[in-house]
Formats: sequence, structure tokens, C-alpha cells
Amino acid sequence: MRTIESLGSLSAKTVIVRCDLNVPLADGVITDDGRIRASLATVTELREAGAKIVLISHLGRPKGEPEARFSLRPVAERMSELLGAPVQFVGETVGEAATAAAAALQGGEVLLLENLRFNPGETSKDDAERAAFAQQLAALGDVFVSDGFGVVHRRQASVYELAKLLPSAAGRLVAAELEVLERLTERAERPYAVVLGGSKVSDKLGVISHLIERVDTLLIGGGMLFTFLAAQGHRVGASLLEADQLDTVRGYLATAAERGVEIVLPSDVVVAEAFAADAAHEVVAADAIESSAFGAAGIGLDIGPASAQRFAEVIAESRTVFWNGPMGVFEMPAFANGTRTVADALTKTAGFTVVGGGDSAAAVRALGFTDDQFGHISTGGGASLEFLEGKQLPGLEVLA
Ligand code: 3PG
Repeated sequence: MRTIESLGSLSAKTVIVRCDLNVPLADGVITDDGRIRASLATVTELREAGAKIVLISHLGRPKGEPEARFSLRPVAERMSELLGAPVQFVGETVGEAATAAAAALQGGEVLLLENLRFNPGETSKDDAERAAFAQQLAALGDVFVSDGFGVVHRRQASVYELAKLLPSAAGRLVAAELEVLERLTERAERPYAVVLGGSKVSDKLGVISHLIERVDTLLIGGGMLFTFLAAQGHRVGASLLEADQLDTVRGYLATAAERGVEIVLPSDVVVAEAFAADAAHEVVAADAIESSAFGAAGIGLDIGPASAQRFAEVIAESRTVFWNGPMGVFEMPAFANGTRTVADALTKTAGFTVVGGGDSAAAVRALGFTDDQFGHISTGGGASLEFLEGKQLPGLEVLA
């Protein structure tokens, strides 16, 4: 992987930096600035080197045209505060204003352009359209630094095609993320436990089948646990269920049993009357969800306290732990205990811990934990999972 050193002296050169500044926003206010903070190392280093810095990023999933709620303007303000230096902002990605602003930069100055995905060429399925947009981006600078780790699994113009058009290298965030993920895939200390949560089994299929071959214990929580329970023949009331995944999940359970990998499913769950913060709820055995007062209408919204405790014990005994996906609806305090207990166990184990994914990272911060309590908090959700699946990631391949 080419690093920034390979680009030579960057003094007075215009460096285009692809960041992943895709932060959560509520009413235009950034609710978790972790990805902005994670981008600072490269930006600071380039400023010190005297480079003229053009930052590019996506935010959310606009459909190829401008949408005010996906503007990066608030990100420029927050980055400026964190950097302690002005970050200029232009309300377009390519075009006259963007070209003029990039050309006017002095060494050490930083410019952030508007959301890449306001342009159809960024995410187009058509290779020629992506290449044409990448050409427009390339015209803004002399060299390219790829530092948006969260997006390296996407074959998109600013991630893949742009890297081919200019001298390019991985930024410090991408390099740091890779070092950690390689430690997990190539030299994880045993016992190695992976905790998976989040709502959809289908999002995690690839990583589950890959990990069954490589880990000692797989702990399953979050919305997807109900598909596992149903695959074992239990009724799950009105809980989230992906019926089309039942056979696949049965296959996982069988493979895990053959390979001696323990899949730990919750023994108890918190079942609620409705999907609401103030809904009546109770703890029931995981194999008897419909025995709650809400019968078949009950919705499982968190792992139960006994399960959370069991998960914490497995984590405490592990030398390596990777965690992706909340254990329950942590945004609602009544259903946050599972996620909090797992996060707390990660902060206490002597093993090496990695929290993967924008959502999981936001969850631990929202629950009051700090980044330094974990071995590593990855900025990549899909990217870190796809890396662990052993897939070739286009945004990394192109930097090799
Ligand atoms: C993420 O949030 O995982 C990254 O920013 C990538 O976003 P995307 O899934 O919309 O490509």
C-alpha cells in the first residue's frame, strides 16, 4: 500500500483528500463527530507539510442531486473548530466556484467541497460516467490521498477512478485501520470472540460464514438474534424476523457445531408491548417470547440481563474481541442495557478490542464511553465487515 511518503514533497502542491465525513446529523446538528476527528491526523500532517488541501467526501445517500439536508457545510464548521484553523467551504463539488477556490488556496490552507453524491457520476453504475466525474475531480489538484476508510469498499468515482488518475496514496486513517484489521485477520490472539448485533442478518451473511472458520465464539444479539431463535424452532412474537434467511442461519448453526465454534445466543430477551421508548416491557426466556403479557404481539427490543452478563463473561475471557452492531434499541434507555453491558465488558477486558462501524461507534459514544477505552474504534461499518469477510476492496486495491 502506497503511503503519503511515496508522493514526495507536498509543499505548495494541491492535495485532494478523500475523507469519510459521513457523520450523523439531527436537524443540521452533528450528533457524533468521530469521523471528523479521525480525519484530522492526515489533514494536520498535510498542513504542516505546506500542502494546499482540498477535502472531498459524501454524506448520507442523496440520489445524484443536491439536497440541503445532506450538505457538508456543518462539517466544515466542526472541522474548523477541531483543527483550530479555518476550513473554507464551497457549495459545489466541481464547477467554476470549486475550481476557483482550489486555485486560490495557499500552502497550509484547507477547503472542503460539497457532497460528492450530489453528482450522479460519483455513484453511477456506468464506468464511463464515473470516469468522467473523476476527471473533473482530478483537475482540482496535483496528487490524491485516499483517507475515507469507511468508503473503501465502494467502487465509486472519488474512491476508485480518481486514484488512478493522479499520483495517489493511502492516508493515515486508512493505514491505521488496515493495521488493526490485519491484526484481526492474520494474527488474532485466542480466544477470539466476535459480537454481532444490528437489525439485519442479511447484512452480515458474508462475515458470519467467514468468521465461523476463524473465531472461537460468535455472540449474536440485536434484531438479528430473532432470526437465529426462529431457526432453532422458537416463536418470536412480533420481533424482527427475516424469514428468507432461516435456512441460511440453520446452515450456520450446523457448520459452527461441526467446527467446534460456539454460537452464543441470548437465553433471555426484553420484550415490549410496542416499538416505543415508554412501552411496557418485561424480561422473558428467549425460547418463550410469546409467554410475555403481550403474547404474539410482543416485540423483542434488547437482549436480557442474564444474556448480557453471559456475553460480558465471554468477552472477559477473550484475548481478541471484535464488535459490530448494537445489542438492542440503545437509543431508548429501557432497551440500552445489552449494548451498555457489552460496551462496558469491552472496556474492562485485558484483550484487544475493536469496535467496528459507524453505528456501533456512535452507540458507545452516545452511552457515555470514550474512544480511549477501546483498543480501536473503526470508522468503517460496511468496509470493516467486508475486510473481515476477506473481500478485495476496490479503494484499497487501487492503492497497492
Ligand atoms: C458508512 O457510513 O458506512 C460509510 O460512510 C459508507 O456509506 P455508504 O454505505 O452510504 O456507502
